[in-house]
Amino acid sequence: MNKVKTIGILTSGGDAPGMNAALRAIVRSAVVKGIRVVGIKRGYNGLIKGDIIELDLRSVSDIIHKGGTYLYTARCLEFKDEAGVDLAVETCKKFGIDGIIVIGGDGSFRGAADLSAKGIPCVGIPGTIDNDIAASDYTIGFNTALETICECVDKIRDTSQSHDRCSIVEVMGRDAGWLALESGIAVGATIILVKEIPFDFQKDVIDRINRTIKTGKKHFIIVVSEGLELDVNEFAKHVERETNIVTRATVLGYIQRGGSPSVMDRVMATKMGAYAVNLLEKGKGNRVVVMQKNKLVDIDIFDALAMKKEFDFDAYNMANSVNI
Ligand code: ADP
Ligand code: F6P
Repeated sequence: MNKVKTIGILTSGGDAPGMNAALRAIVRSAVVKGIRVVGIKRGYNGLIKGDIIELDLRSVSDIIHKGGTYLYTARCLEFKDEAGVDLAVETCKKFGIDGIIVIGGDGSFRGAADLSAKGIPCVGIPGTIDNDIAASDYTIGFNTALETICECVDKIRDTSQSHDRCSIVEVMGRDAGWLALESGIAVGATIILVKEIPFDFQKDVIDRINRTIKTGKKHFIIVVSEGLELDVNEFAKHVERETNIVTRATVLGYIQRGGSPSVMDRVMATKMGAYAVNLLEKGKGNRVVVMQKNKLVDIDIFDALAMKKEFDFDAYNMANSVNI
């Protein structure tokens, strides 16, 4: 691959706090290297339609602390077909884009792999609150979402405690239980339910609550991952019926995706953004920037997509032994 002259950046899939910090770092580090940068709006839609803006040093001022994405994001079904990818390649030629940085989840990386296969060098940066990218120990936005969940559940806990109630809180994560696991540990949830670990309602929920009641506990928090697709209001009724403890459910929803990125997400996003530019500058495309064992490294995008992320069963068991 030749040295890149124009980098295109897009954010794709669900937004995540820290995407703007990554965008800022990419623009700044590319411009100082003499590389032109353009923003592609609304994910792969913008690439298909040619919705492109020029980005200079000052165009990314005052966004490091903002949630959402300045470039907007979208899901683009058309891009899943070869015809859509071909249109995107045409746009790249038209705007002189010879390298693309995609900030998103593994769906977005699949799109980047398709583009790479058509000769447009792409680099992926993991950005999703779900932390579900196998190749990376961390994805931008996860920490901020955890902070938000924690803040919300702490508030729920206040009222749950004063009423001696049980509170069921559903958190996001798509099919992955990482947000549920880590927030459950952080809020001291009596029960954490995730798709990765099958549970028995009587043994793992009712018996556990009844055992805990005997130790003097009077209020309970149950964190449920959305991947289980439970109707948490119905679930609350079952828990109340079986335990005689008034039980209420809260679905936290999109509040988890918004807000100012945490320090960790700003720093991680900045490092990953600068790293991605260095790769393209060195003529390295078709890579994903990932965090492994506390170090930033890059791996082949196709290898990254073939990897499977194993759930942290040890942390889950530890939580069950501490949160009693
Ligand atoms: P995420 O990137 O957060 O996992 P999605 O799975 O919704 O989010 O994917 C975001 C976008 O990436 C999709 O709307 C589509 O444009 C593109 N994409 C997803 N899967 C593929 C695929 N298999 N081939 C090509 N593009 C894909
Ligand atoms: O991938 C991030 C995420 O917020 C998931 O946790 C959730 O399942 C999904 O996106 C929701 O997507 P949408 O914005 O399409 O409702």
